[in-house]
Amino acid sequence: MITTNLEQAIIALNQNQAVAIPTETVYGLAANAFNKSAIEKVYALKNRPLYNPLIVHIRSYDYLTLVAKDIPEMAIALAKKFWPGPLTLLLNKTELVPDIVTAGNSTVAVRVPNHIVALELLNQISFPLAAPSANPFGSISPTSAKHVQLAFDDDLLVLDGGECERGLESTIIGFKNNQAVLYRHGSIALEEIVKVTGALTFATSADKNPISPGTLSKHYAPKTDIYITNRVEELMKIFPNKKIGALLFKQKIKSPMINFQVTLSESGSLEEAATNLYAALHELDSKGLDLIIAEQFPDEGLGKTINDRLARATKK
Ligand code: TXA
Ligand code: MG
Repeated sequence: MITTNLEQAIIALNQNQAVAIPTETVYGLAANAFNKSAIEKVYALKNRPLYNPLIVHIRSYDYLTLVAKDIPEMAIALAKKFWPGPLTLLLNKTELVPDIVTAGNSTVAVRVPNHIVALELLNQISFPLAAPSANPFGSISPTSAKHVQLAFDDDLLVLDGGECERGLESTIIGFKNNQAVLYRHGSIALEEIVKVTGALTFATSADKNPISPGTLSKHYAPKTDIYITNRVEELMKIFPNKKIGALLFKQKIKSPMINFQVTLSESGSLEEAATNLYAALHELDSKGLDLIIAEQFPDEGLGKTINDRLARATKK
């Protein structure tokens, strides 16, 4: 059920129910981060394996020490620069955070969302919210209340906060030996992070223990087969008599072979393309196509995050 009634969401969360909430990145499936049975509901609804930890959302930087301890200077600098915003930090957890939230890890993923409704909500409850993206495990993340509603039973309460301004999940950064480690490309371009952290390393599978689902090779996937290429028109020719959809950066293609096509930013803005990506994938996936051909994005700024998500969507 979609609602704009904040009070209704607060009541449900206080009763340890799961509620879908808007954030600036994607919608989250939220519950009381300090209550084990509330968190169990989130995993069950999403059909998410218990080894995949959740992100904890706090109302402001001042609440960080409630959930995290031994916070490195670099993490403080990042939080001060990017919060509220789409940056998740992996930090040592406090006793207050139940193991189920972190899937047994000693670190907790934490961020302050930059969305007026989410912040209003967090200000009116007495606990942080653990929230993974509000999509069934492995499928495309939701960037509107409608996307969430279509993916779950109607008895799930969805707090409508409009379309997500960023449209891609948060960038996830951890720390090792006083260096930043990238766990997931996200809504903040790597170039921006590096300005604060200096050189960073990329998390290896040994760092991701247990596995991070957002970094599983198959994730963020539409049901329709998807191919990624920098030569869309040539690839189309391999599939005669198929219903083809195209996901393009700036320019549409003039070809009778294409059944349905979407451009993500006619002006060529990677930020705008990022905002529109998941909505376009949801739409393409609803058109009864045989396949989707996606254009490879420039390997810079948010183009890196878009290419990362497209690559994971192509995996079988
Ligand atoms: O933008 C976002 O980050 C959205 C909104 C709702 O905040 N949330 C989101 O959550 O994308 P989710 O569950 O779809 O992705 C969380 C990612 C996963 O890849 C998970 O493995 C990783 O965070 N993660 C959480 N806790 C972790 C930990 N302690 N160590 C390593 N990775 C962790
Ligand atoms: Mg997710």
